[in-house]
Amino acid sequence: MDTTATHTTTAAPVVRIRSLRRHYGTVAALDGVDLDFAAGTFTAVMGPSGSGKSTLLQCAAGLDRPTSGTVAVDGIGLAGLSERRLTLLRRERIGFVFQSFNLLPSLTAAQNVALPLRLAGRRPPRTAVREALARVGLADRAGHRPSELSGGQQQRVALARALVTRPAVLFGDEPTGALDTVTSRGVLALLRELVDREGRTTVMVTHDPVAASYADRVVFLVDGRVSGELRSPSADEVAARMAGLEKAPC
Ligand SMILES: Nc1ncnc2c1ncn2[C@@H]1O[C@H](COP(=O)(O)OP(=O)(O)O)[C@@H](O)[C@H]1O
Ligand SMILES: [Mg+2]
Repeated sequence: MDTTATHTTTAAPVVRIRSLRRHYGTVAALDGVDLDFAAGTFTAVMGPSGSGKSTLLQCAAGLDRPTSGTVAVDGIGLAGLSERRLTLLRRERIGFVFQSFNLLPSLTAAQNVALPLRLAGRRPPRTAVREALARVGLADRAGHRPSELSGGQQQRVALARALVTRPAVLFGDEPTGALDTVTSRGVLALLRELVDREGRTTVMVTHDPVAASYADRVVFLVDGRVSGELRSPSADEVAARMAGLEKAPC
């Protein structure tokens, strides 16, 4: 905590997105997006299929380069970075989890979690790996391979791996999309807890109104543009808004 900040100071957002455009040929996947993700907040991104949700996350996480516009993470503009610097920033400051977990099958849970530290050329301190696994409730599974873990447990390992470097922001693209309802709720409760307990800034794409209701804010995308948002949303409010968006004429 910065105790020198005055009460009137508004903290800079962890992620700042301005006039973001990403065109694929004639398709405008993102068509002018302005968004801020404040520190310690949990945001859900929703919208019809093809509305640009994944593209937004990929651009915000430095996995894709926008056609125009800017993304800043932790005050650092991504556009000006060389590939090498961008890779380093992604590795150190940005966590990403995918629907399909993307764990390496031949490595144990602990080895998967240690991977980002190894890639950064650090010798992974065993305590950091153990702590990361403990934070997701898997302290007793360190030696298990992905095939020996349930889907929910695999996603928890992926979360521990994404968080082991203590990134400024965690992105998830449908992180509960491959999980059954009960397991999915467990992972969402964990994401919520990490935000509340550790101040993890989290941005999650989902198509599930119940998943979105775990967030502080839901941002709706339509045709590559922000079409509105809800604060402290209930699942019913989100479902009603989504039904409206999906019925909207093209
Ligand atoms: N690599 C790509 N090449 C061409 N078009 C793409 C590519 N990625 C996404 N698109 C297009 O951009 C639009 C937005 O895609 P996406 O961000 O994946 O949407 P969502 O995640 O909301 O379903 C879609 O029309 C999609 O077909
Ligand atoms: Mg998508």
